[in-house]
Amino acid sequence: MKIKEIKVKDLEPEKFVKEKIEEISAIVGSDSAINALSGGVDSSTVTMLGHKALGDRLKTYFIDSGLMREDEPERVVSLFEKVGVKVEVVDAQKQFFDALKSITDPEEKREAITQTFYRDVFGKLVRKNGAKFLLQGTILTDVDETVAGIKRQHNILEQLGVDPEKEFGYKIIEPLVQLRKDGVREVAKALGLPALAYNKAPFPGPALAARVIGEVTPERIAVVRKATAIVEEELSDSGAFQCMAILHEDRVTGMRGGKREYGMQIEIRSWESKDARTATPTRLSYDILERLSERITGEVTGVVSVTYNITKKPPSTMEAV
Ligand code: XMP
Repeated sequence: MKIKEIKVKDLEPEKFVKEKIEEISAIVGSDSAINALSGGVDSSTVTMLGHKALGDRLKTYFIDSGLMREDEPERVVSLFEKVGVKVEVVDAQKQFFDALKSITDPEEKREAITQTFYRDVFGKLVRKNGAKFLLQGTILTDVDETVAGIKRQHNILEQLGVDPEKEFGYKIIEPLVQLRKDGVREVAKALGLPALAYNKAPFPGPALAARVIGEVTPERIAVVRKATAIVEEELSDSGAFQCMAILHEDRVTGMRGGKREYGMQIEIRSWESKDARTATPTRLSYDILERLSERITGEVTGVVSVTYNITKKPPSTMEAV
């Protein structure tokens, strides 16, 4: 079924919020729902909509996959505490790393994350809760790119012909599926979320696994996590749509302390974009690039090479996996 897009210029955020709250209440009825909050603008918006519609009948979880950025679980829980929403953290790190073991193919990685997320972790939570519905922050760009076969977004099931009720035992509600990122930000603002939440740069569902080329292990995630923290800190005032660090699979010869070091490579990407459909690299100054290189090679053990991506999307995509 074709989804009817609501462009940001046609969006009336207050009206949209009111309609979606009514819609969620009507669909869920007297049952209960659960949702997973990652802290991104999409899942944050869905969490607020859901809580306004269902109150305590919506249970919100933060799934700690071990693939998140530095201090992310704590930050997300405390932000939502401030707006009166209780979030429960579920430690699922072992399940995700076990599922990702030995996988190098990008789509297989996404599939492993999807299966672990929906079947192993969420399936169990749903059964424990007796919830019949799962609220999800899928947006139109996720659908477009998945249907076009560019990348399988981990939160797309129905559009791919997968019946979540049959496969995982629950129904999915996607209140944001007619919007793109700019529209979601307007809705988040209308819901009273703080600027920290509605201005947040996008972050992919597969989290840092989308930024590790080759096998995803706790050690390799730790490398990309540290590099990500440096990139985000240094570029926080750049106004970029999104910035990231990517860990490459192949190693290169470097030298440190007069010794040869066959080390890792980090690629930095910083994007200017409106809606993530197309993007151009930020024209970062050489001073900033040099500082990034010095900090990453100095602070992230084992990294001997730092590069900056200068390719537009398309033909690049924003994430590397
Ligand atoms: P790409 O890499 O497809 O990214 O150019 C476009 C935007 O979508 C985000 N992204 C994802 N988000 N699950 C998500 O929820 C995913 O699998 C995924 N892959 C990419 C990406 O961060 C960018 O903002």
